[in-house]
Formats: sequence, C-alpha cells, structure tokens
Amino acid sequence: MAGLKILIAGAGGQLGWELQRTAPAEVDVLAADKRQLNLLQPDQVCELIHREQPDWIINAAAYTAVDKAEDEADIAYAINRDGARLLATCAAELGAQMLHISTDFVFNGQKGTPYLVDDQPGPLGVYGASKQAGDEVVETALGGRCAIIRTAWVYSAHGNNFVKTMLRLMTERDQLGIVADQIGSPTWANGLARASWRAVQLNLSGMHHWTDMGVASWYDFAVAIQEEALAIGVLRKPCVISPLRTADYPTPAARPAYSVLDKTPTLQALGLQAVHWRQALREMLAEL
Ligand SMILES: NC(=O)c1ccc[n+]([C@@H]2O[C@H](COP(=O)([O-])OP(=O)(O)OC[C@H]3O[C@@H](n4cnc5c(N)ncnc54)[C@H](OP(=O)(O)O)[C@@H]3O)[C@@H](O)[C@H]2O)c1
Repeated sequence: MAGLKILIAGAGGQLGWELQRTAPAEVDVLAADKRQLNLLQPDQVCELIHREQPDWIINAAAYTAVDKAEDEADIAYAINRDGARLLATCAAELGAQMLHISTDFVFNGQKGTPYLVDDQPGPLGVYGASKQAGDEVVETALGGRCAIIRTAWVYSAHGNNFVKTMLRLMTERDQLGIVADQIGSPTWANGLARASWRAVQLNLSGMHHWTDMGVASWYDFAVAIQEEALAIGVLRKPCVISPLRTADYPTPAARPAYSVLDKTPTLQALGLQAVHWRQALREMLAEL
C-alpha cells in the first residue's frame, strides 16, 4: 500500500471518520467531506479527482436518511445513484479503483436466513432502491476495478446513530418501547473501516458483505446498550425498555424484517475475523 493515494468521499460521516483514524500510516489519504466533494456538484467533484489523481476512491458518502428519502427520492437518487456513478466514471477515466459502500436495505427481509452476496435485491423503500441503483452503476462503470461492501446497522462515536439516540432517550425518559421484530447485525463503523482498508490492500473486487458477528433485534440492541452503558457509568439510571412490534411503530419507510448478511466469503477473502457486535459495542461505549 505504500505510496497509494486514497480519496475518501463522505469523510465527515461515521464511516468516513473511522476510515481517517484507522488509515494505514503508509497511505496518502485525502479526506474530503461534503464541502470539498459534494456529489450534487459534478464539476467540483471531477475537478478535485482529476487534480488529485487518487489510486483509489472510497465512497463513504451517501444520503442515509431512510424515512426522509420517501419524500426526497430525487435527492436520494442524485446522491446514492448519480453521485456514485460520477465517482466511478472519474475513477474509470483515471484508471483508479473504487471501494463503494452499500446496505442491507437492498433486500426485502423475507428470506429468513443470512443474505448471500448474489441474492436478488428487492428494496422496500427509496433509500434501499437508490443504493441498489448506485451499486449497479458503479459495477457497470468499473467492472472488476471496484469492490462493493454491503453493511448494516452502522454506529460510531462520531455522528448520529441508534446507539447515541438510545443513550439520549435513556437519559431523558423512564420508559422506552423498541421494535423487537426486525433482526440484523449491529456494526461498529471502526471495524468496517478496518475491513475497508484491508480490501484496498488486497485489491478486493466484486460484491461483499461486512457486519459485526451475531444478530439482534433493535430491542436486544437497546437492552445491551443500556446494560453496557450502566456498567461503565455512561448511563447513571436504568430505564424500562419494552419490546414493540413494527406494526406498533409505523415509519414512512418500510424496513426489512430480517437483514442479516452472510459474510463467509468476505471474511475468507480479507483474512479477517469480525468481532461479536456486543464486544464492538463495549469498545465504542468505552470511547464516549
Ligand atoms: N448508517 C447505517 O446504519 C448504514 C447501514 C447500512 C449501510 N450504510 C452505508 O454505509 C455508508 C456510510 O454510512 P454512514 O453511516 O457513515 O453515513 P453518514 O454518517 O450519514 O455519512 C454519510 C456522509 O455522506 C455525506 N453526504 C451527504 N450528501 C452528500 C453529498 N451530496 N455529497 C457528498 N457527501 C454527502 C454526509 O454529509 P452530511 O451529513 O453533511 O449531509 C455524511 O457525512 C453509506 O454508503 C451508507 O449507505 C449505512
């Protein structure tokens, strides 16, 4: 990896931030947040990429507001599909490679066993559909010169996410109801960032899945957040957490009931072991 120049798009997000602090010492990182690289401003993006001539582009930028996307489909597609295509086209022009990040929300959640990389997507909402469209255009533009990693339920000490929302609500309230019939794999962005760097190091290509190990419902995840946070003093008082059905907590966007991703080939290809999500949660809470 020595001497490789890597452009991180979306450097201000959860993954973008973790990519910066886990970057191998020998790579030349150009971390671009939305001010420096705005996927809605193609001229700015192309100018930056042609000026900097990166060897790899890691696309950690995305429109990630799942519910809002239902009312802002044009913006979600402009960023998640057209923005991804713009990066991939610029990369192709330079002969650069690209690592693109995608989501479990490309699946409809009906399968009931972990999704394989080549299972048929069937997104339930605009966000998932726009991400799936992004995956397709990146593959079309770059073929074997890109890797796509689908991930799920991402959190980090930086940015907005379920863990930080729970800590706030558990501080403010005495009771909470949390959905217990959606199952997935909570994923610390730090581990995803480390896997991403390994993917670059190994010239990974094709479709891959990465999450932390194990599965949980949002309710299980919330209970674990409370237990771990109380244990280290991040929370000072308990709050009663009750399981809810999805039907009791309607949201603008439908979410997959089961979105566990099979990681077996990716773990083999990367030569990595993911940690169990609860261990990763403990490490993230210790940072707060
Ligand atoms: N978060 C999850 O639970 C989750 C789950 C599965 C997959 N993923 C995928 O993982 C990747 C990283 O997600 P994340 O959790 O790090 O998301 P995030 O924290 O929301 O970060 C996304 C970043 O993209 C930036 N962005 C938005 N519009 C942009 C634009 N027009 N041009 C350039 N940058 C723009 C955002 O900036 P602003 O905040 O300033 O708008 C933000 O810094 C994404 O591809 C996402 O789809 C995330």
